[in-house]
Amino acid sequence: MPYGRDVLIRVRSESDVPACVAMMRRTHELDGYPRYWRSDPAAFLRGRAETAAYVAVRDGGLVGHVALHSAEGDPALPVVQRATDRPAEQLAVVARLLVSPTARRGGVGQALLDRAVQHAHARDQLPVLNVLPEDVAPRTLYERAGWRPVGEVTLPIEGHDPLLVRVYLGPPPPAG
Ligand SMILES: CC(C)(COP(=O)(O)OP(=O)(O)OC[C@H]1O[C@@H](n2cnc3c(N)ncnc32)[C@H](O)[C@@H]1OP(=O)(O)O)[C@@H](O)C(=O)NCCC(=O)NCCS
Repeated sequence: MPYGRDVLIRVRSESDVPACVAMMRRTHELDGYPRYWRSDPAAFLRGRAETAAYVAVRDGGLVGHVALHSAEGDPALPVVQRATDRPAEQLAVVARLLVSPTARRGGVGQALLDRAVQHAHARDQLPVLNVLPEDVAPRTLYERAGWRPVGEVTLPIEGHDPLLVRVYLGPPPPAG
């Protein structure tokens, strides 16, 4: 799927993981996402609840990543379910969205978000996500794309202070 400035979004392969981890290291250092650097960053990137993952590629180089996770057991699920009566299997959590600092503001983040939403909609799932309230770049991206905040939840993080995150609902899947 070509996007502006010749960006291709494709399914992440296992051989992409080291480059994704290197990119995540840069976003951790520059943007504070993820807030805490984990002892096994590849396992964090993949996530235990992952159901799918995509990468953005430009000129043969990896410039972005996004994943979808199962909502089953997600700590934000109670907040989501106060705003929608969908059961967990009709939800998809968009996670691990990151774009290389050298490829920003060219539409890559939007393209990855669009792909994740399309993935959820194809399964009749409502996309949801959480974001740190102080992270202006992703919050602006989500709100501009029509996502709406429905509450906040404190996430327990093993070995670290808990994090307060804002929970968003994305566009619902088309009816029928
Ligand atoms: C958030 C992030 C993925 C955006 O990636 P990107 O490729 O630069 O985003 P896009 O170019 O598609 O931007 C789309 C829109 O989002 C908004 N946006 C993106 N970055 C922004 C910023 N730094 N400040 C304000 N708005 C921003 C703008 O509305 C932008 O449209 P515009 O460029 O026409 O003004 C990227 O900044 C990133 O990787 N940040 C660190 C990781 C992170 O925070 N991930 C989210 C975890 S919840």
